[in-house]
Amino acid sequence: MAFQQRVFSGVQPTGNLHLGNYLGAITRFVELQANYDCLYCVVDLHAITVWQDPVELKRSIREVTAAFIAAGIDPKRHIVFNQSQVAEHAELAWVFNCVARLGWLNRMTQFKEKAGKDRENASVGLYAYPSLMAADILLYRATHVPVGEDQKQHLELTRDIAQKFNNDFAPSIAEAGFAEGFFPLTEPLIGGPAARVMSLRDGTKKMSKSDPSDLSRINLADDADTIASKVRKAKTDPEPLPSEAEGLAGRPEAENLVGIYAALSGTTKPAVLAEFGGGQFSTFKAALIDLAVAKLGPIGAEMKRLVADPVEIDAILRDGADRARVIATETMGHVKDIVGFVR
Ligand code: AMP
Ligand code: TRP
Repeated sequence: MAFQQRVFSGVQPTGNLHLGNYLGAITRFVELQANYDCLYCVVDLHAITVWQDPVELKRSIREVTAAFIAAGIDPKRHIVFNQSQVAEHAELAWVFNCVARLGWLNRMTQFKEKAGKDRENASVGLYAYPSLMAADILLYRATHVPVGEDQKQHLELTRDIAQKFNNDFAPSIAEAGFAEGFFPLTEPLIGGPAARVMSLRDGTKKMSKSDPSDLSRINLADDADTIASKVRKAKTDPEPLPSEAEGLAGRPEAENLVGIYAALSGTTKPAVLAEFGGGQFSTFKAALIDLAVAKLGPIGAEMKRLVADPVEIDAILRDGADRARVIATETMGHVKDIVGFVR
């Protein structure tokens, strides 16, 4: 096999981690540890593409790290670190800024959404965000990236950058001894019943850290009463739950809650409907509350314990960065040779 199988993924330290991050990303990070060498990164360089309060940013970096550990990621067997401690991320991103084309970045929907109407006033970093993301992944020549569905386009761009780099520099890559190209064409790992968790207030919008209504999301740090009240207030429709998955069509709120239940209990939407189909939402919501509290309660408690002691978290991040840097420096050395820099 040409490329060593390796998993990389990142989460931004920007505000509250929620059920979408947990089900769409973090639970899958945990599962992949059994079969791959994994790197999980708190992407603080990405966070500052929009304004972050410095005190809040530090808190949030530690909170995301705590969530990784509390959810079951093992920072000794795998690598957990924050991006800004490994300078090679920014270094490779610059090279990729010179590989990626303006036309490619112009198509990125996340930039359009985040920049909004006032595009002239968005940071240059927000625009170049996808080439930094490609650098995160390719610095470790990662072959697999677990993410939620919203990141699909960025991963396609990562493959385009890898491909163009491999083509543009083919002679010097071959000379450096990499017969199969230097960067792998990374596979996204997107899927499961909760690849896209929707807002509890509007089943057509994704659950998001930036939604002004806290009722729209379940935060990993929410206590049992808060979880219960958010699920009780979650928007539904007047019909009973269907018995077959086809009956969820055109009922985004029902589909979302069923998907959340399926993901939290490790089953599928049809299996959930086989149990709750034909019943009222109130019965289903009571079961969902019990399930969510049982799954998320212990994680929230462990996160609070870890965040209370930054010394432990900061040591984990430093150790992870030291180990990540070993791989990163090696890749960057090859990149410099391939591009033609003197070193
Ligand atoms: P972010 O908080 O934007 O850095 O996202 C971290 C990870 O969570 C990424 O893999 C996202 O794709 C995933 N994610 C974020 N929001 C959702 C959601 N509503 N449903 C599923 N996955 C999500
Ligand atoms: N852009 C991702 C998000 O918003 C975060 C991210 C940054 C990432 N670098 C990455 C995800 C590398 C996977 C791999 O969710």
